[in-house]
Amino acid sequence: MSETSTETPSFDPVALLGERFEAAIRAALGEKLGNAPVDPLIAPSKQQQLADYQSNAAMALAKRVGMKPRDVAEKIVAELELGELAEPMTSDSIAGPGFINVRLRPEALADLLGRMDTPGLGVGDASHETIVVDLCGVNLAKQMHVGHLRATVIGDAIARVFEKLGHRVIRQNHVGDWGLPIAMVAAKLQSEADAGRIDMGSVTLDDLDRLYRVAKMESSADRKGLAAVERFQLGPKARAELEAQVSGADEALAKAKDALVRLQAGDEAMVAVWQRLYDVTMTACLETCARLHATVTDEATAGESTYRDELAGIVEHLIESRAAEEDDGALIVRNEGLDPTLVRKSDGGFLYATTDLAGIRRRVQELGADRVIYCVDARQALHFRQVFATAHKAGFANRDGREAQLEHAPFGMVLGEDGRPFKTRSGENVKLADVIDEATERAERIVAAKSGDLDAGERRAIAETVAVAALKYADLSSDRVKDYVFSYDRMVSFEGNTGPYLLYAGVRIRSIFRKANEQGLADGFASAPLSIVEAAEKQLALALLRYPGTVRSVAVSLEPHRLCGYLYELAGAFSTFFENCPVLKAPDDAMRLSRLRLCDLTSRVLTDGLDALGIRSLDRM
Ligand code: ARG
Repeated sequence: MSETSTETPSFDPVALLGERFEAAIRAALGEKLGNAPVDPLIAPSKQQQLADYQSNAAMALAKRVGMKPRDVAEKIVAELELGELAEPMTSDSIAGPGFINVRLRPEALADLLGRMDTPGLGVGDASHETIVVDLCGVNLAKQMHVGHLRATVIGDAIARVFEKLGHRVIRQNHVGDWGLPIAMVAAKLQSEADAGRIDMGSVTLDDLDRLYRVAKMESSADRKGLAAVERFQLGPKARAELEAQVSGADEALAKAKDALVRLQAGDEAMVAVWQRLYDVTMTACLETCARLHATVTDEATAGESTYRDELAGIVEHLIESRAAEEDDGALIVRNEGLDPTLVRKSDGGFLYATTDLAGIRRRVQELGADRVIYCVDARQALHFRQVFATAHKAGFANRDGREAQLEHAPFGMVLGEDGRPFKTRSGENVKLADVIDEATERAERIVAAKSGDLDAGERRAIAETVAVAALKYADLSSDRVKDYVFSYDRMVSFEGNTGPYLLYAGVRIRSIFRKANEQGLADGFASAPLSIVEAAEKQLALALLRYPGTVRSVAVSLEPHRLCGYLYELAGAFSTFFENCPVLKAPDDAMRLSRLRLCDLTSRVLTDGLDALGIRSLDRM
């Protein structure tokens, strides 16, 4: 958890109750607790007919102070001063083993909501850390696929949450744009162009993707096959065939190595080919990110190639600081409880890990990061443990004596409906751009059926916004670290915990305002006194007040699905409110204006929450 972003705005019931419970706990158990911190353990009540919030502190403290939990609860309640905030405590306020139930007063709710009703909706705090978010991470000459969807969409949502809290956020797209595999495609592209089989000027990412696969196949020969021929004496024909393959592969590999050497030496022709690979890939990548409404731009892109001149220095520092040791010609760093980290191969080559160490040094010492968050596939967990440990050991994560926090926010795989990795029928990766197209087509059919009065252009634009919302929300709303099953049907549905459902909830509220304005019924609602009377109003108010705390909790857990779950609950609370509490037909003016203000707050929280997830809201759909 970060230490510097603490100041809590004064309208979050959890925080307010927390302060008062903490004071009561200290007063009740003072000496017995010493200076150790106490957690008042305030949570929304699971039984809303009994209470709005509960404190579970008595159970947690009982052992520490050597008393029965219920006795602890009695003592706390005796010291509790909730004043204007909550209904007076009664003999029923302590339940079960020692839960302390609290019911807020309607006036207090109205007052808190009124204070939250600011442009920032109470989300910003006094944060001022610099947070680097590593996201997207595409590779040259490869199409973006659904794995990159997660690294882009989740990473961008995490970045947006920190921005909303007021932090300085720097996104870093660590593109795989350097090393032998890239040199291999570059060599292949050049030889294809030289042979007149491909035009360098009009080459597409699809072409590059194909070249990549051909080049990879050419250089990975059947060495195992050859060994088998020898072992089982499979005859001259098989041997000749496999020998040809292996020597072809050796030749391809030699060409790739030669290309890399030339690239590293800055050979003009080779660099030009590489630049072409880079431009074609990154144009397509940034275009897809823009379509996804994810803020991944040129400025945020710092590929592996940008570290190429720093790697020798990184390794030198590791040697000088005695963090690294020689091992069979290679250079490794040992960290307790982990396999050694290889930072230089015996042939002198650097590795993915070496580049990530350079990345940490730049991010902490040049960009000023207090926290670096890596939104990368869970399968790289070990890599990051090794790299982080090595960075801390070598001082790369230290700036002015202060150690930056390095965190991996891992995510699971995207699975098809058959439960296996999401692939095309022929077993290839599904292109992200195709996924967006497909989702848009489906969304367009639904939008057309729902609102026939839109013209084609408008319909298409709305459909793409709905599709992107559907796609991103499906990804963001599932538990980050788990694998999730990709389903077009489920994600574009207007029912359930989906993107379209939440967009539609916002659209419905905005249409209430259109009607209210037409009939002149909305004048002055923004400054009208709030009154929280009905049960459904109260539930909606409580849900609204949970917003700032929810956003903050995402910054701690790095789990955007918590915000998704919250928005879904808010939309549900609004539905119940709208069914039970007439707005435009409210019994009197005061109540109508108060309810309109609740509608407006709900609409703004929905829009702001979706925005924190990187999802655009709509006025019509
Ligand atoms: N390009 C890498 C891959 O496809 C992801 C980069 C993740 N970021 C990092 N700093 N290593 O696996």
